Amino acid sequence: MVKLTGYKKVKTAVFISGTGSNLKSLIKFSKTRKSPISVNLIISNNPKAKGLRLENVNKIKKKVFSFEKNYKIEDKILTFLEENEIQMICLAGFMKILSRNFINKFKGKILNIHPSLLPKYKGLNTHQRAINDNEKFSGCTVHFVNSKLDSGKIILQKKVKITENETKNSLARKVLVQEHKLYPKAILKVFNL
Ligand code: GRF
Repeated sequence: MVKLTGYKKVKTAVFISGTGSNLKSLIKFSKTRKSPISVNLIISNNPKAKGLRLENVNKIKKKVFSFEKNYKIEDKILTFLEENEIQMICLAGFMKILSRNFINKFKGKILNIHPSLLPKYKGLNTHQRAINDNEKFSGCTVHFVNSKLDSGKIILQKKVKITENETKNSLARKVLVQEHKLYPKAILKVFNL
């Protein structure tokens, strides 16, 4: 578990690729007294990510790193994180896979949220796959990131019922509502709060 030193909040970078609704909920949470983290940096691989233009990200430092044909990009990100004294990373809808080398540099300090009850439905298109398999439940998972996709130690999960006539979109909406609650809860748990 991550240890809190003194009373200072742990400087955190959130990595996004798209809408950023989890980013939004993490920022809201980070501003509460009970939050052990502050969101100091937003990193995206996608310049068009809606999350970069959310209302509550205005005052937070943002940077886009293009992964295309840029094999040294992770080194650049690591340098940037260091320059900004980042201590922890929350992946929130970040669609790039980070290398073992990168993950080792932040060992035990990278969290991810995934829209399924891991270890079921790792990877993409989770909602449709759960529906196709006639699952009664799906949900979301916050886990530590290791070098295998969606496979690190699970911190917290939340179940969601799959109803009759469920579609991937309706399920995604239901799960997302729970994701916004689960990520802050998982962070509190990581800090033993
Ligand atoms: C979430 O469902 C997250 O679990 C998945 O991608 C989605 C991102 O949504 N990895 P948002 O960008 O946080 O709105």
